[in-house]
Amino acid sequence: MGTKNYWTLRDRPHTKLKLDIYRKYLDSWCSIFLKQKFYEKIFIVDCFAGKGDYEDEGGLVDGSPLIAVKAAKKFQENFLKMQNKNKNDFKIDCVFIENKPAYVKSLEELLVPYKDIVNYKLVEGDFNEVIENILKEIGYCPVLFFIDPYGIKTLKRKSVEMVVAKNGAKDILLNYIQEGVERIEGLAKKCLSKRVEEISIKEIKTIKNLSDFMGGLDCIGKEEKDILKMYVEEVLKGNNKNVDDKNKLDVIAFDMPYPNKSDTIYYLLFASRNKNAVKIVSQVYAKSKQTEFNGQKNLFDAKTLQKINNNFKV
Ligand SMILES: C[S@@+](CC[C@H](N)C(=O)[O-])C[C@H]1O[C@@H](n2cnc3c(N)ncnc32)[C@H](O)[C@@H]1O
Repeated sequence: MGTKNYWTLRDRPHTKLKLDIYRKYLDSWCSIFLKQKFYEKIFIVDCFAGKGDYEDEGGLVDGSPLIAVKAAKKFQENFLKMQNKNKNDFKIDCVFIENKPAYVKSLEELLVPYKDIVNYKLVEGDFNEVIENILKEIGYCPVLFFIDPYGIKTLKRKSVEMVVAKNGAKDILLNYIQEGVERIEGLAKKCLSKRVEEISIKEIKTIKNLSDFMGGLDCIGKEEKDILKMYVEEVLKGNNKNVDDKNKLDVIAFDMPYPNKSDTIYYLLFASRNKNAVKIVSQVYAKSKQTEFNGQKNLFDAKTLQKINNNFKV
């Protein structure tokens, strides 16, 4: 995905819709936990946090970290109103991972108003390198992982597998960049027909990215939907064979179309062992098909809307 002008929402209805889905989902996720008896804290881990806000015609719009701290604040206020007899305190700890120092700085400044209200931590580094320690810190506490990279280059299968294998409750919202998979798989297929000496170092690096993302190159030559299925079955559901039924992850997908085009830009994959959470996200996805923003017309034309899948099961 091109990163030029990434932080403006003009002409990016799919990013607006993604943020809206995330906000709605977090609201529901928080309400599921309000009456929960055992834990005194739960976590939101934003694995590719970004700079914190976007420009839009009407001014600045919250990025995923601000959406998370606002949800955490609301959750804590609602908990206090409930006067829960089981425990005195219930907090959401937010962890924001970002590897670009300038974005970490921007985010740090934007989060200042929440400093004494919400527990949050900024981790400057590569998600693939820092996730192992973060998982250790979380232990058995319930957690939501938001995995929203620019493309497939920065997301390694082994890191996602670690997240999937975390013990205890976890929900995962993962942005599977379809256009990146398609582009790199196409390039890799072309390379296979070349003589070794004709393949450039750049091409080899790109193929390695595909291999790191998928955990191999078996996907080359397969259809778009089959590669997605492979990813879901082998990576997101890959640990299901090692756990009992109540811990098996179920996965649903929302295919995000390019505005006014029939192609899919990415799939928002949602994985959870919690049937209720899966149902809630299916409803959020279904409603998003008819999304309107600020009274404006639908974001996508009728043909594109029709294309957005009704059946979210992968
Ligand atoms: C798609 S943007 C995130 C947008 C953000 N989730 C939002 O909705 O506001 C991806 C972010 O990941 C950061 N990034 C890229 N590679 C990374 C890596 N290996 N580890 C952590 N962050 C990375 C980029 O600098 C960028 O800010």
